[in-house]
Amino acid sequence: MESATSWEFMIKLMRVRLVLNFLCLVLVLYSIGALFCLAVFEQGLNRSTDALLVDLISEVRPSVTRSDECPTLKAWDRAARMENLPVLATIQIFSPKGKLIESYGPNGVDVLTTGKVRVPGENTDVRSSYQPIIHQEKECGYLQVQVSTAHDDRSFSELATAMVLAFPVIAGLVAFGGYFFVGLALRPVELTMDLLRRFVADAGHELKTPLAVIEAAIETLEAIHQEHELVETETEMMRSASKRMRGLTEDLMFLARVEDPMRAFEKEVLSLNQLILQEAKAYSPLAESKRINLVVTVDDLVDVFVFAEPESFRQLISNLLSNAIKYNEEGGTVRVSLERTGTQAKIVVADTGVGIPETSLAHIYERFYRADKSRSRDAGGAGLGLAIVKAVAEAHKATVEVTSKVGVGTTVSVYVGVANKSLNG
Ligand SMILES: Nc1ncnc2c1ncn2[C@@H]1O[C@H](COP(=O)(O)OP(=O)(O)O)[C@@H](O)[C@H]1O
Ligand SMILES: [Mg+2]
Repeated sequence: MESATSWEFMIKLMRVRLVLNFLCLVLVLYSIGALFCLAVFEQGLNRSTDALLVDLISEVRPSVTRSDECPTLKAWDRAARMENLPVLATIQIFSPKGKLIESYGPNGVDVLTTGKVRVPGENTDVRSSYQPIIHQEKECGYLQVQVSTAHDDRSFSELATAMVLAFPVIAGLVAFGGYFFVGLALRPVELTMDLLRRFVADAGHELKTPLAVIEAAIETLEAIHQEHELVETETEMMRSASKRMRGLTEDLMFLARVEDPMRAFEKEVLSLNQLILQEAKAYSPLAESKRINLVVTVDDLVDVFVFAEPESFRQLISNLLSNAIKYNEEGGTVRVSLERTGTQAKIVVADTGVGIPETSLAHIYERFYRADKSRSRDAGGAGLGLAIVKAVAEAHKATVEVTSKVGVGTTVSVYVGVANKSLNG
Protein backbone atom coordinates (compact mmCIF):
# COMPACT_ATOMS: atom_id res chain seq x y z
CA MET A 1 0.00 0.00 0.00
CA GLU A 2 1.37 3.36 -0.90
CA SER A 3 0.28 6.87 -1.59
CA ALA A 4 1.83 9.52 -3.72
CA THR A 5 0.33 12.85 -4.49
CA SER A 6 0.84 15.56 -6.99
CA TRP A 7 1.91 18.22 -4.52
CA GLU A 8 3.80 15.75 -2.39
CA PHE A 9 5.75 14.81 -5.50
CA MET A 10 6.25 18.50 -6.29
CA ILE A 11 7.69 19.14 -2.82
CA LYS A 12 9.96 16.10 -3.11
CA LEU A 13 11.18 17.34 -6.47
CA MET A 14 11.73 20.81 -5.02
CA ARG A 15 13.67 19.27 -2.12
CA VAL A 16 15.93 17.26 -4.43
CA ARG A 17 16.48 20.28 -6.69
CA LEU A 18 17.39 22.52 -3.77
CA VAL A 19 19.81 19.91 -2.40
CA LEU A 20 21.42 19.48 -5.83
CA ASN A 21 21.83 23.24 -6.27
CA PHE A 22 23.26 23.54 -2.77
CA LEU A 23 25.58 20.59 -3.41
CA CYS A 24 26.85 22.10 -6.67
CA LEU A 25 27.49 25.42 -4.93
CA VAL A 26 29.39 23.80 -2.04
CA LEU A 27 31.47 21.60 -4.36
CA VAL A 28 32.39 24.52 -6.63
CA LEU A 29 33.38 26.57 -3.57
CA TYR A 30 35.31 23.61 -2.16
CA SER A 31 37.18 23.12 -5.46
CA ILE A 32 38.10 26.81 -5.66
CA GLY A 33 39.16 26.75 -1.97
CA ALA A 34 41.22 23.56 -2.47
CA LEU A 35 43.02 24.98 -5.53
CA PHE A 36 43.72 28.20 -3.63
CA CYS A 37 45.08 26.23 -0.62
CA LEU A 38 47.32 24.13 -2.87
CA ALA A 39 48.70 27.28 -4.58
CA VAL A 40 49.40 28.94 -1.20
CA PHE A 41 50.98 25.73 0.15
CA GLU A 42 53.25 25.38 -2.91
CA GLN A 43 54.32 29.02 -2.63
CA GLY A 44 55.13 28.52 1.07
CA LEU A 45 57.25 25.44 0.26
CA ASN A 46 59.14 27.34 -2.46
CA ARG A 47 59.72 30.29 -0.19
CA SER A 48 61.11 28.14 2.63
CA THR A 49 63.41 26.21 0.20
CA ASP A 50 64.67 29.50 -1.25
CA ALA A 51 65.41 30.74 2.28
CA LEU A 52 67.28 27.48 2.94
CA LEU A 53 69.35 28.00 -0.24
CA VAL A 54 70.28 31.54 0.84
CA ASP A 55 71.29 30.17 4.26
CA LEU A 56 73.41 27.43 2.66
CA ILE A 57 75.14 29.91 0.34
CA SER A 58 76.05 32.23 3.22
CA GLU A 59 77.25 29.21 5.26
CA VAL A 60 79.50 27.86 2.48
CA ARG A 61 80.64 31.24 1.11
CA PRO A 62 83.38 31.84 3.84
CA SER A 63 84.91 28.42 3.02
CA VAL A 64 85.61 29.40 -0.64
CA THR A 65 89.38 29.86 -1.08
CA ARG A 66 91.45 30.70 -4.18
CA SER A 67 93.80 28.56 -6.17
CA ASP A 68 95.38 29.62 -9.52
CA GLU A 69 93.19 32.77 -9.57
CA CYS A 70 90.08 30.51 -9.43
CA PRO A 71 87.70 30.05 -6.51
CA THR A 72 87.76 26.58 -4.96
CA LEU A 73 86.10 24.56 -2.20
CA LYS A 74 88.67 21.78 -2.14
CA ALA A 75 89.88 22.63 1.39
CA TRP A 76 86.29 22.70 2.68
CA ASP A 77 85.57 19.39 0.98
CA ARG A 78 88.63 17.80 2.53
CA ALA A 79 87.61 18.98 5.99
CA ALA A 80 84.07 17.70 5.48
CA ARG A 81 85.39 14.30 4.41
CA MET A 82 87.67 14.12 7.42
CA GLU A 83 84.84 14.85 9.76
CA ASN A 84 82.68 12.42 7.78
CA LEU A 85 79.99 15.07 7.24
CA PRO A 86 77.53 14.14 4.50
CA VAL A 87 76.88 16.85 1.86
CA LEU A 88 73.12 16.78 1.30
CA ALA A 89 72.87 19.75 -1.06
CA THR A 90 74.59 20.11 -4.44
CA ILE A 91 77.32 22.74 -4.08
CA GLN A 92 78.98 24.01 -7.24
CA ILE A 93 81.66 26.51 -8.21
CA PHE A 94 81.40 28.17 -11.63
CA SER A 95 83.94 30.24 -13.54
CA PRO A 96 83.10 33.92 -14.29
CA LYS A 97 82.07 32.67 -17.77
CA GLY A 98 79.55 30.26 -16.22
CA LYS A 99 81.56 27.04 -16.70
CA LEU A 100 81.26 24.39 -13.97
CA ILE A 101 84.60 23.99 -12.17
CA GLU A 102 83.75 21.98 -9.04
CA SER A 103 80.65 20.08 -7.84
CA TYR A 104 80.02 18.41 -4.47
CA GLY A 105 77.12 16.39 -3.10
CA PRO A 106 74.34 14.74 -5.11
CA ASN A 107 73.84 15.20 -8.87
CA GLY A 108 72.52 18.59 -9.86
CA VAL A 109 72.05 20.76 -12.91
CA ASP A 110 75.41 21.80 -14.37
CA VAL A 111 74.44 25.30 -15.48
CA LEU A 112 73.87 28.54 -13.57
CA THR A 113 70.17 28.70 -12.89
CA THR A 114 67.56 29.76 -10.34
CA GLY A 115 64.17 28.29 -9.37
CA LYS A 116 62.92 24.75 -9.98
CA VAL A 117 64.73 22.71 -12.65
CA ARG A 118 64.70 19.09 -13.72
CA VAL A 119 67.92 17.14 -13.29
CA PRO A 120 68.94 15.84 -16.76
CA GLY A 121 68.62 12.07 -17.03
CA GLU A 122 66.86 11.76 -13.67
CA ASN A 123 63.22 11.88 -12.67
CA THR A 124 63.84 14.47 -9.97
CA ASP A 125 63.74 18.24 -9.65
CA VAL A 126 66.01 20.57 -7.74
CA ARG A 127 65.61 24.13 -6.58
CA SER A 128 68.64 26.20 -7.38
CA SER A 129 70.16 29.56 -6.38
CA TYR A 130 73.57 31.18 -6.95
CA GLN A 131 75.59 34.21 -5.93
CA PRO A 132 78.73 35.76 -7.47
CA ILE A 133 82.04 35.33 -5.62
CA ILE A 134 83.64 38.77 -5.32
CA HIS A 135 87.39 39.07 -4.81
CA GLN A 136 89.01 42.48 -4.68
CA GLU A 137 85.82 44.02 -6.02
CA LYS A 138 85.95 41.71 -9.04
CA GLU A 139 83.66 38.78 -9.89
CA CYS A 140 85.90 35.74 -9.97
CA GLY A 141 83.20 33.09 -10.21
CA TYR A 142 79.86 31.87 -8.83
CA LEU A 143 78.78 29.74 -5.91
CA GLN A 144 75.60 27.72 -6.72
CA VAL A 145 73.58 25.62 -4.29
CA GLN A 146 70.79 23.17 -5.25
CA VAL A 147 68.51 21.07 -3.07
CA SER A 148 66.17 18.28 -4.14
CA THR A 149 62.43 19.13 -4.11
CA ALA A 150 61.41 15.47 -3.69
CA HIS A 151 60.34 15.97 -0.08
CA ASP A 152 58.32 19.11 -0.90
CA ASP A 153 56.77 17.42 -3.94
CA ARG A 154 55.68 14.50 -1.76
CA SER A 155 54.08 16.83 0.81
CA PHE A 156 52.31 18.67 -2.00
CA SER A 157 50.96 15.53 -3.64
CA GLU A 158 49.87 14.15 -0.24
CA LEU A 159 47.87 17.30 0.42
CA ALA A 160 46.37 17.21 -3.10
CA THR A 161 45.40 13.53 -2.66
CA ALA A 162 43.81 14.28 0.73
CA MET A 163 41.79 17.07 -0.84
CA VAL A 164 40.61 14.88 -3.72
CA LEU A 165 39.69 12.07 -1.30
CA ALA A 166 37.78 14.53 0.88
CA PHE A 167 35.66 15.57 -2.15
CA PRO A 168 33.22 12.60 -2.17
CA VAL A 169 33.07 12.61 1.64
CA ILE A 170 32.13 16.30 1.66
CA ALA A 171 29.68 15.72 -1.20
CA GLY A 172 28.03 12.89 0.77
CA LEU A 173 27.82 14.88 4.00
CA VAL A 174 26.49 17.98 2.25
CA ALA A 175 23.89 15.94 0.33
CA PHE A 176 22.78 14.14 3.48
CA GLY A 177 22.74 17.24 5.69
CA GLY A 178 21.24 19.36 2.92
CA TYR A 179 18.42 16.88 2.37
CA PHE A 180 17.64 16.93 6.08
CA PHE A 181 17.72 20.72 6.48
CA VAL A 182 15.86 21.43 3.24
CA GLY A 183 13.23 18.97 4.48
CA LEU A 184 12.93 20.97 7.69
CA ALA A 185 12.68 24.24 5.75
CA LEU A 186 9.96 22.83 3.49
CA ARG A 187 7.90 21.48 6.38
CA PRO A 188 5.75 24.64 6.67
CA VAL A 189 5.02 24.47 2.92
CA GLU A 190 3.95 20.85 3.33
CA LEU A 191 1.72 21.75 6.28
CA THR A 192 0.12 24.60 4.33
CA MET A 193 -0.57 22.34 1.35
CA ASP A 194 -2.06 19.74 3.65
CA LEU A 195 -4.24 22.38 5.30
CA LEU A 196 -5.44 23.49 1.89
CA ARG A 197 -6.20 19.92 0.86
CA ARG A 198 -8.12 19.30 4.08
CA PHE A 199 -10.04 22.54 3.63
CA VAL A 200 -11.12 21.48 0.12
CA ALA A 201 -12.12 18.03 1.36
CA ASP A 202 -14.12 19.48 4.30
CA ALA A 203 -15.77 22.18 2.19
CA GLY A 204 -16.75 19.55 -0.39
CA HIS A 205 -18.17 17.35 2.32
CA GLU A 206 -20.17 20.23 3.83
CA LEU A 207 -21.60 21.08 0.42
CA LYS A 208 -22.98 17.59 -0.08
CA THR A 209 -26.00 17.98 2.23
CA PRO A 210 -27.28 21.34 0.89
CA LEU A 211 -26.75 20.01 -2.63
CA ALA A 212 -28.83 16.95 -1.89
CA VAL A 213 -31.58 19.22 -0.52
CA ILE A 214 -31.47 21.38 -3.67
CA GLU A 215 -31.59 18.29 -5.91
CA ALA A 216 -34.59 16.94 -4.00
CA ALA A 217 -36.33 20.32 -4.25
CA ILE A 218 -35.69 20.43 -8.01
CA GLU A 219 -37.16 16.98 -8.37
CA THR A 220 -40.30 18.06 -6.50
CA LEU A 221 -40.54 21.20 -8.65
CA GLU A 222 -40.14 19.13 -11.81
CA ALA A 223 -42.91 16.82 -10.66
CA ILE A 224 -45.19 19.82 -9.99
CA HIS A 225 -44.33 21.31 -13.41
CA GLN A 226 -45.09 18.02 -15.13
CA GLU A 227 -48.34 17.64 -13.23
CA HIS A 228 -49.53 21.09 -14.31
CA GLU A 229 -47.92 20.76 -17.74
CA LEU A 230 -45.86 23.93 -17.20
CA VAL A 231 -42.80 24.93 -19.25
CA GLU A 232 -39.67 23.60 -17.56
CA THR A 233 -37.07 26.21 -18.59
CA GLU A 234 -36.26 27.37 -15.03
CA THR A 235 -36.21 23.88 -13.56
CA GLU A 236 -33.95 22.74 -16.40
CA MET A 237 -31.57 25.58 -15.65
CA MET A 238 -31.62 24.69 -11.96
CA ARG A 239 -31.08 21.00 -12.77
CA SER A 240 -28.08 21.77 -15.01
CA ALA A 241 -26.57 24.17 -12.43
CA SER A 242 -26.96 21.66 -9.60
CA LYS A 243 -25.48 18.93 -11.82
CA ARG A 244 -22.43 21.08 -12.49
CA MET A 245 -22.10 21.86 -8.83
CA ARG A 246 -22.31 18.18 -7.93
CA GLY A 247 -19.67 17.34 -10.53
CA LEU A 248 -17.41 20.09 -9.22
CA THR A 249 -17.79 19.04 -5.55
CA GLU A 250 -17.22 15.41 -6.41
CA ASP A 251 -14.11 16.21 -8.46
CA LEU A 252 -12.70 18.44 -5.71
CA MET A 253 -13.34 15.81 -3.05
CA PHE A 254 -11.89 13.07 -5.24
CA LEU A 255 -8.75 15.12 -5.86
CA ALA A 256 -8.39 15.90 -2.15
CA ARG A 257 -8.78 12.18 -1.42
CA VAL A 258 -6.20 11.12 -4.02
CA GLU A 259 -3.79 13.72 -2.69
CA ASP A 260 -4.16 12.77 0.95
CA PRO A 261 -0.69 11.59 2.00
CA MET A 262 -2.17 9.62 4.92
CA ARG A 263 -4.49 7.67 2.67
CA ALA A 264 -3.46 4.22 1.60
CA PHE A 265 -4.69 3.30 -1.85
CA GLU A 266 -6.80 0.21 -1.94
CA LYS A 267 -4.98 -1.28 -4.87
CA GLU A 268 -5.78 -4.61 -6.40
CA VAL A 269 -4.95 -6.49 -9.56
CA LEU A 270 -7.47 -5.40 -12.13
CA SER A 271 -8.00 -6.09 -15.76
CA LEU A 272 -7.25 -2.86 -17.59
CA ASN A 273 -8.85 -4.01 -20.84
CA GLN A 274 -12.12 -4.83 -19.08
CA LEU A 275 -12.09 -1.47 -17.30
CA ILE A 276 -11.50 0.42 -20.55
CA LEU A 277 -14.20 -1.55 -22.34
CA GLN A 278 -16.70 -0.78 -19.54
CA GLU A 279 -15.90 2.94 -19.64
CA ALA A 280 -16.02 3.09 -23.43
CA LYS A 281 -19.44 1.41 -23.29
CA ALA A 282 -20.62 3.95 -20.73
CA TYR A 283 -19.51 6.80 -23.00
CA SER A 284 -20.86 5.43 -26.27
CA PRO A 285 -24.37 7.01 -25.86
CA LEU A 286 -22.74 10.43 -25.36
CA ALA A 287 -20.46 9.87 -28.36
CA GLU A 288 -23.42 8.79 -30.44
CA SER A 289 -25.47 11.81 -29.42
CA LYS A 290 -22.61 14.04 -30.59
CA ARG A 291 -22.21 11.94 -33.75
CA ILE A 292 -18.69 11.00 -32.75
CA ASN A 293 -17.21 7.76 -33.93
CA LEU A 294 -15.83 5.92 -30.87
CA VAL A 295 -13.31 3.31 -32.05
CA VAL A 296 -12.14 0.93 -29.34
CA THR A 297 -9.21 -1.39 -30.14
CA VAL A 298 -8.95 -3.21 -26.86
CA ASP A 299 -8.73 -6.98 -26.78
CA ASP A 300 -11.59 -8.42 -24.77
CA LEU A 301 -9.96 -11.82 -24.39
CA VAL A 302 -6.33 -11.11 -23.56
CA ASP A 303 -6.25 -9.51 -20.13
CA VAL A 304 -3.71 -6.83 -19.27
CA PHE A 305 -3.48 -6.65 -15.49
CA VAL A 306 -2.37 -3.66 -13.48
CA PHE A 307 -2.06 -3.16 -9.74
CA ALA A 308 -4.32 -0.19 -9.18
CA GLU A 309 -7.21 1.23 -7.24
CA PRO A 310 -10.24 0.45 -9.44
CA GLU A 311 -12.21 3.62 -8.65
CA SER A 312 -9.24 5.93 -9.27
CA PHE A 313 -8.29 4.24 -12.51
CA ARG A 314 -11.87 4.24 -13.70
CA GLN A 315 -11.96 7.99 -13.06
CA LEU A 316 -8.69 8.44 -14.98
CA ILE A 317 -10.03 6.66 -18.07
CA SER A 318 -13.40 8.35 -17.74
CA ASN A 319 -11.80 11.82 -17.66
CA LEU A 320 -9.73 11.11 -20.78
CA LEU A 321 -12.75 9.81 -22.68
CA SER A 322 -14.86 12.72 -21.51
CA ASN A 323 -12.28 15.23 -22.80
CA ALA A 324 -11.84 13.42 -26.11
CA ILE A 325 -15.58 13.57 -26.74
CA LYS A 326 -16.15 17.00 -25.22
CA TYR A 327 -13.43 18.76 -27.21
CA ASN A 328 -14.34 17.07 -30.45
CA GLU A 329 -16.33 18.20 -33.47
CA GLU A 330 -19.47 16.59 -34.78
CA GLY A 331 -18.49 13.69 -37.06
CA GLY A 332 -15.10 13.41 -35.36
CA THR A 333 -13.40 10.27 -34.13
CA VAL A 334 -12.13 9.09 -30.76
CA ARG A 335 -9.75 6.12 -30.77
CA VAL A 336 -9.10 4.20 -27.59
CA SER A 337 -6.44 1.52 -27.53
CA LEU A 338 -4.49 -0.60 -25.09
CA GLU A 339 -1.12 -2.10 -25.91
CA ARG A 340 1.26 -4.15 -23.86
CA THR A 341 4.97 -3.83 -24.44
CA GLY A 342 7.05 -5.94 -22.07
CA THR A 343 6.33 -4.79 -18.53
CA GLN A 344 4.38 -1.72 -19.60
CA ALA A 345 0.82 -1.13 -20.62
CA LYS A 346 0.05 1.85 -22.79
CA ILE A 347 -3.43 3.34 -22.85
CA VAL A 348 -3.99 5.74 -25.73
CA VAL A 349 -7.00 8.04 -26.11
CA ALA A 350 -6.69 9.96 -29.37
CA ASP A 351 -9.24 12.37 -30.81
CA THR A 352 -9.69 14.41 -33.96
CA GLY A 353 -10.95 17.39 -31.98
CA VAL A 354 -10.08 21.03 -31.54
CA GLY A 355 -6.60 20.37 -30.10
CA ILE A 356 -4.71 22.29 -27.43
CA PRO A 357 -2.58 25.34 -28.26
CA GLU A 358 1.14 24.79 -27.56
CA THR A 359 1.20 27.59 -24.97
CA SER A 360 -1.54 25.83 -22.99
CA LEU A 361 0.05 22.36 -23.01
CA ALA A 362 2.26 23.08 -20.00
CA HIS A 363 -0.77 24.18 -17.92
CA ILE A 364 -3.43 21.59 -18.67
CA TYR A 365 -2.75 19.64 -15.45
CA GLU A 366 -3.26 22.70 -13.28
CA ARG A 367 -6.46 22.89 -11.26
CA PHE A 368 -9.21 24.95 -12.91
CA TYR A 369 -7.10 25.55 -15.99
CA ARG A 370 -9.08 25.59 -19.21
CA ALA A 371 -7.40 26.19 -22.54
CA ASP A 372 -10.61 27.30 -24.19
CA LYS A 373 -12.64 28.80 -21.34
CA SER A 374 -15.97 29.42 -23.08
CA ARG A 375 -16.05 26.04 -24.81
CA SER A 376 -15.02 24.20 -21.68
CA ARG A 377 -17.58 25.99 -19.52
CA ASP A 378 -20.33 25.29 -22.06
CA ALA A 379 -19.31 21.65 -21.95
CA GLY A 380 -19.59 21.66 -18.15
CA GLY A 381 -15.88 21.43 -17.45
CA ALA A 382 -14.25 23.10 -14.47
CA GLY A 383 -10.65 22.24 -15.37
CA LEU A 384 -10.16 19.50 -12.80
CA GLY A 385 -10.25 16.46 -15.08
CA LEU A 386 -6.58 16.34 -16.07
CA ALA A 387 -5.44 17.35 -12.56
CA ILE A 388 -7.20 14.17 -11.38
CA VAL A 389 -5.64 12.15 -14.23
CA LYS A 390 -2.17 13.35 -13.23
CA ALA A 391 -2.69 12.75 -9.49
CA VAL A 392 -4.05 9.22 -10.08
CA ALA A 393 -1.21 8.44 -12.51
CA GLU A 394 1.42 9.60 -10.01
CA ALA A 395 -0.17 7.56 -7.23
CA HIS A 396 0.22 4.51 -9.50
CA LYS A 397 3.73 5.37 -10.74
CA ALA A 398 2.25 5.86 -14.19
CA THR A 399 3.23 8.59 -16.64
CA VAL A 400 0.98 10.71 -18.82
CA GLU A 401 1.99 12.16 -22.17
CA VAL A 402 -0.10 14.61 -24.17
CA THR A 403 0.56 15.60 -27.75
CA SER A 404 -1.77 17.93 -29.55
CA LYS A 405 -2.17 20.04 -32.62
CA VAL A 406 -4.80 22.75 -32.91
CA GLY A 407 -7.46 21.77 -35.42
CA VAL A 408 -6.03 18.27 -35.83
CA GLY A 409 -6.54 16.57 -32.48
CA THR A 410 -5.11 15.43 -29.20
CA THR A 411 -3.48 12.17 -28.15
CA VAL A 412 -3.11 11.26 -24.50
CA SER A 413 -0.95 8.24 -23.63
CA VAL A 414 -0.76 6.72 -20.17
CA TYR A 415 2.08 4.30 -19.39
CA VAL A 416 1.62 2.00 -16.42
CA GLY A 417 3.51 -1.05 -15.21
CA VAL A 418 1.68 -4.35 -15.68
CA ALA A 419 1.03 -6.68 -12.77
CA ASN A 420 1.06 -10.39 -12.33
CA LYS A 421 -2.36 -11.93 -11.86
CA SER A 422 -0.97 -14.02 -8.99
CA LEU A 423 -0.37 -10.83 -6.96
CA ASN A 424 -3.99 -10.87 -5.95
CA GLY A 425 -3.58 -14.26 -4.36
N1 LIG B 1 -8.80 15.98 -25.72
C1 LIG B 1 -8.69 17.31 -25.61
N2 LIG B 1 -8.80 18.10 -26.71
C2 LIG B 1 -8.69 19.44 -26.61
N3 LIG B 1 -8.47 20.10 -25.47
C3 LIG B 1 -8.37 19.38 -24.35
C4 LIG B 1 -8.45 17.97 -24.35
N4 LIG B 1 -8.29 17.52 -23.09
C5 LIG B 1 -8.11 18.61 -22.34
N5 LIG B 1 -8.16 19.74 -23.08
C6 LIG B 1 -7.95 21.13 -22.62
O1 LIG B 1 -7.35 21.08 -21.34
C7 LIG B 1 -8.17 21.72 -20.39
C8 LIG B 1 -8.11 21.00 -19.07
O2 LIG B 1 -8.76 19.76 -19.16
P1 LIG B 1 -9.54 19.20 -17.90
O3 LIG B 1 -8.61 19.28 -16.77
O4 LIG B 1 -10.08 17.86 -18.25
O5 LIG B 1 -10.65 20.25 -17.67
P2 LIG B 1 -12.12 20.37 -18.22
O6 LIG B 1 -12.97 20.29 -17.02
O7 LIG B 1 -12.18 21.70 -18.87
O8 LIG B 1 -12.36 19.25 -19.17
C9 LIG B 1 -9.55 21.76 -20.98
O9 LIG B 1 -10.24 22.89 -20.55
C10 LIG B 1 -9.27 21.83 -22.45
O10 LIG B 1 -9.10 23.18 -22.86
MG1 LIG C 1 -12.07 17.28 -18.55
